[in-house]
Amino acid sequence: MDTVSFTTAMARVPSPVTVVTTYGPDGVPYGFTAGSFCSASLDPPLVLVCLDKGASTHPAFSTTRRFLVNVLGRGQQEVAGRFATSGIDRFAAGDMSPQELGLPGLPGASARIACSLHSVLDAGDHTALLGRVEETFTSDRTPLVHVDRLFHHPAPNHPAPTNPAPNRPDPTGRLAGPDSRSQPPMPGRAFPLIFAERVEATAEFYELLGFTRQSRNPPEGEPTYIGLRRGSTELAVVSADWSVTQCGIPPGPGPRFEMFVLVEDLDTTLKQLTDGRVPLLRAPTDMPWGERIAHVLDPDGNPVAVACAITP
Ligand SMILES: Cc1cc2nc3c(=O)[nH]c(=O)nc-3n(C[C@H](O)[C@H](O)[C@H](O)COP(=O)(O)O)c2cc1C
Repeated sequence: MDTVSFTTAMARVPSPVTVVTTYGPDGVPYGFTAGSFCSASLDPPLVLVCLDKGASTHPAFSTTRRFLVNVLGRGQQEVAGRFATSGIDRFAAGDMSPQELGLPGLPGASARIACSLHSVLDAGDHTALLGRVEETFTSDRTPLVHVDRLFHHPAPNHPAPTNPAPNRPDPTGRLAGPDSRSQPPMPGRAFPLIFAERVEATAEFYELLGFTRQSRNPPEGEPTYIGLRRGSTELAVVSADWSVTQCGIPPGPGPRFEMFVLVEDLDTTLKQLTDGRVPLLRAPTDMPWGERIAHVLDPDGNPVAVACAITP
């Protein structure tokens, strides 16, 4: 097998773009760009990264006790280039600061995985560093991908996990890390939370309008949070207690917001809703701007406009 054929074929394999960092025994930071990063085991949680035995950073990494994998995100190609450049001070830009386990990390990384060194394996002209995952951080920044010798980032509609804020329960009940939700990444993402007395019933109502459940907390028993999605629209139905525990304000009586839902066929949707005994607030009415709109009530007393285009 010749090297060119091998590397040409491997260029077709998308890889993550990471910068792996550590401190040497002298306290000097070391780092290199790595595309060979992947997970290796779930239990125990192990990851793997391969480092060229001839690299200037090899002595530091093959003897270190800890390392941090910074998963680079959209707009961080320059960092990837810098940590792959020989003979420069890769940390001179000052964009790395102490992060997980106190190791040098990029605050704006897409994710960070902090590891203790589990084992060092011989892998031809490379050394495979197996790390035991000790701490992780996940942000909403779209990760960079390297394929066909170019940097890319996935289209915006990929799952964008967020870490729960420190000391606050994650209302979705998700662990930090990829989940089943399919949301555009922050900062463009925004969605309403409906404070509902009857979370389950309210979520079922929105399911009738074409929303599907994406997340739930707690996983079993009476839900206090149900995340829903319809196309690119997100919505969360949250128990009324949430407002009290988070903001100290009980939700007031009466309508608290109006949801506007466009549907293909208003009559069919209304039939589905009213068959489920959803109260009709206002019969379908043609609007001068070309929409036919009806209003119904959700189980928590909020008006919901259901609309379609007026067909000639
Ligand atoms: C996208 C990309 C991915 C890379 N992946 C790896 C890798 O997985 N392992 C590795 O040893 N070097 C990898 N490199 C090369 C190193 O980042 C770096 O260029 C090399 O270690 C430089 O050697 P030096 O430290 O001796 O200057 C990669 C470089 C780029 C641009």
